[in-house]
Amino acid sequence: MKGPLATRPLRRGRHTMAAVTPVDEDTKRLRALVEAGVALSSELSLDALLQKLVEVAAELTGARYAALGVIDRSGTGLERFVTHGVTSAEHEAIGALPSGRGILGVLIEEAVPVRLADIAADPRSVGFPHHHPPMHTFLGVPVVLRGVAYGNLYLTEKEGGNEFTGDDQEIATLLAAQAAVAIENARLYESATRWLRQLESLNEVGNALLSEIELPRLLALIARRLRELAGAELVLIGLPQPDGDIRIAAADGDRAAQMMGTTVSGTHSKSARVLERRKSERVDSLLDDHEVEVDAARRMGGTAALYVPLLLRDEAIGVITVADKIGPDPRFSDDDLRLAEAFAGRASAAVDLSGRVARDAMRRVVAGQELERTRLARELHDETGQALTSILLALGTIREADDVPTAIDGVRELVVATLQDVRRLAVELRPSALDDYGLVPALERLTATVSEQGGPAIDLEAQLGGERLPGEVETALYRIVQEALTNAMKHADARHVSVVITRTPDSVTAVVEDDGSGIEDTHGEGLGLVGMRERLALLDGRLRIESTRGAGTTIVAEVPLR
Ligand SMILES: Nc1ncnc2c1ncn2[C@@H]1O[C@H](COP(=O)(O)OP(=O)(O)OP(=O)(O)O)[C@@H](O)[C@H]1O
Ligand SMILES: [Mg+2]
Repeated sequence: MKGPLATRPLRRGRHTMAAVTPVDEDTKRLRALVEAGVALSSELSLDALLQKLVEVAAELTGARYAALGVIDRSGTGLERFVTHGVTSAEHEAIGALPSGRGILGVLIEEAVPVRLADIAADPRSVGFPHHHPPMHTFLGVPVVLRGVAYGNLYLTEKEGGNEFTGDDQEIATLLAAQAAVAIENARLYESATRWLRQLESLNEVGNALLSEIELPRLLALIARRLRELAGAELVLIGLPQPDGDIRIAAADGDRAAQMMGTTVSGTHSKSARVLERRKSERVDSLLDDHEVEVDAARRMGGTAALYVPLLLRDEAIGVITVADKIGPDPRFSDDDLRLAEAFAGRASAAVDLSGRVARDAMRRVVAGQELERTRLARELHDETGQALTSILLALGTIREADDVPTAIDGVRELVVATLQDVRRLAVELRPSALDDYGLVPALERLTATVSEQGGPAIDLEAQLGGERLPGEVETALYRIVQEALTNAMKHADARHVSVVITRTPDSVTAVVEDDGSGIEDTHGEGLGLVGMRERLALLDGRLRIESTRGAGTTIVAEVPLR
């Protein structure tokens, strides 16, 4: 009975169905088997296909009941259970799916066919659950392909109270093999789709690396996508801090909010060890791992985890923790570990990039400040220094002057002009009105000074309500308006400029519009427009420039308020 099925003739069942001629019976069986084979290559869903196989099995063996259970990938439970002959009401009354004990357990564990005249009489039987229809004769075959057990097919209650025959067993084995092919196909398809999704997610993260400069947002995206793909409860990304602790910089999952921003020890935690060893690790039981602190495991709420270091040129700059696979078995597979490692690679690139961007921004700020100092130094030397020298010379001549009072008046005028210069420089350095009275009074002084110095007429309109804006927003907007006014004077030859500041609950916007020449070329040498953009980027704000040749320029700076 154990020979290869495909080579044996299909002449079966004459003795049980005497009314049918042998040829008819064989033809019928053959047709049913062919149909079942054809169904394999149809577009039926796996469940529909298994249902069909179960029905054909029942029909060809004369079984009243038939069932096919598919073991899940972890091998611990049933992923699918397809039946024939049991009504849905009966299904409901029985309740839970078979748990794989008793005779079914033997089928699963030993993966050999089992044929019995009476299930209950077998010593390995554990009996039926409540409300289970009575069953006696039994034929079970494993669903196997290339040595891998995918589940089992079983048939009960052969018609006429007969026992199942060796022929029945061969048919069942053949159909079970077809079911195995179908299940394997479905899993291969699932794996292929999963790979595709992983690839897409990694791509998405790769693209985000190019466009997103905010590290927290990047890390959050990485944590989210990794958690989705690994099917995990929680993903944490920890980064070592200057004080030595490891801080959770991104988290995704139910417990994410309470984990975010917390720290773990940089010396005694599991994360610290993984950082030190620079090697990823799969932990199937956190409780049994002596490096995991009980407290940390409890906070994370997990039983199994993956620990993966973020490596950058052989240095570990962070660690990803993935906790508990969703489903009956919390353990992760080696595939999950490799997936986490791929994401860790992206995360370390993100951390590296953000460090470089920050250093670059700092360098530019420092360079900008240096340039500003150079300009002030030159003005102090050329204007204030010259003026003071003139005063000194004038004082020397007063003694010999014929008309002392007039000479003194001359010196006085020089002193007053110099004083104004010094005040202007001081205001440029840091307008005290900005600190003392806020943005609008500081802008009022600025526009007045610009107009006094022979600049264009300026209209200032500001509706900011009573409350002061955050300090860094005030400074940024002040500097942006100041630069826009300077540009309007320097490049546009504007006669009129309007400055409008508006505030909504979510944002504040400054609009500076001049009626000058319009921008011909923004690729000039200047740092003004670049500085505006950088100030705004630091505050998550945006800069818009609208300009028409000969018809003026409008600068719109918008800063969100959080
Ligand atoms: N309101 C404006 N009207 C006409 N052209 C402008 C205006 N604002 C800027 N530009 C043009 O854009 C260029 C870049 O401006 P930006 O403020 O960045 O540099 P800058 O004013 O030349 O130098 P810096 O601001 O560093 O002293 C200017 O050189 C100028 O050609
Ligand atoms: Mg400028």
